[in-house]
Amino acid sequence: MIKGSDLSNQDERLAVEFCGMKFSTPQVLLSGCVGFGEEYTRIEGFSNRDVGAICLKGTTGTARPGNAPHRVTETPAGMINAIGLQNPGAPYVVDKILPTLDFEETRFIANVSGSTVEEYIEVTRLFDASPIDAIEINISCPNVKEGGVAFGNDPEMSARVVEACRAATSKPLITKLSPNQTDIAENARRCIDAGTDAFAVINTLMGMAIDIEQRTPIIGNNQGGLSGPAIKPVALLKTHQVYQVCKGHNIPIIGQGGITSAEDAIEFMIAGASAVGIGTALFYDPLICPKINAGLVEYMERHGMSEIAQLTGTLVLN
Ligand SMILES: Cc1cc2nc3c(=O)[nH]c(=O)nc-3n(C[C@H](O)[C@H](O)[C@H](O)COP(=O)(O)O)c2cc1C
Repeated sequence: MIKGSDLSNQDERLAVEFCGMKFSTPQVLLSGCVGFGEEYTRIEGFSNRDVGAICLKGTTGTARPGNAPHRVTETPAGMINAIGLQNPGAPYVVDKILPTLDFEETRFIANVSGSTVEEYIEVTRLFDASPIDAIEINISCPNVKEGGVAFGNDPEMSARVVEACRAATSKPLITKLSPNQTDIAENARRCIDAGTDAFAVINTLMGMAIDIEQRTPIIGNNQGGLSGPAIKPVALLKTHQVYQVCKGHNIPIIGQGGITSAEDAIEFMIAGASAVGIGTALFYDPLICPKINAGLVEYMERHGMSEIAQLTGTLVLN
């Protein structure tokens, strides 16, 4: 039986199979945008059951305090963040936070980061021995001084991290790719050879905002990751490029970057995504997910589709 097949509160036509897991809808709440799964539960009307999965905040071997403020700033059609992977450390997350999550509501995915390959292995092992449903490795975080982006921008290093984490877990392994690199398709190819089960495409793009009175960067870290609708066209192209590499290998993609509507989600699925991530949109509309679900159902009915998975990779190039 596929794990999660008892989660039947959503329209069955929205369910997708992702690395052997059943997501009740293709929507995934993205890492860093919902804390450790508890952050939005205080909002009236919000339900974890509206989404197929939730990615937890990036987690490292030991606790990290994160960067000095300001950590976020709004930009036209998006935001820049440099949180700096603030988190309480993997042992705390596994021992104290995971037992508080309701695994009956949705699937939970850990988001693993590290400064060294050894740290990635250590954190992956801890989550492997936990009830978490899947493990996403963030080799693309632009906001820490070492590790993160350095791994993600070099196919050789990316493959090393994937290979090491693959050996440390038998859970589904999702590799989160960086858009800040020359050839994302080549990186994806190397990660498939190294044993990844799936991809998340894309993480944030590097950006900067300047306070013209002070003549200083607004973000304490000077630079940060740009997310939101501003990056959607870039994210769509990268999803399409990675899908070209994945489609012969049965490797699914969580497409993400600027999704704020059912129409956006549909575009990502047509480009090749099996699931879609919602991040920045939650900051201004925490109740967006049921609206996206309704829009997906409406589209399926209009196009005579019996299941949403039929959309994936249906792009017809000119
Ligand atoms: C405030 C903030 C914190 C984030 N933290 C993480 C993180 O810890 N790990 C990670 O892999 N991605 C992190 N991200 C990236 C998102 O998960 C997502 O990939 C990106 O924002 C693109 O999607 P969006 O445009 O829908 O937000 C963060 C994004 C934001 C806005």
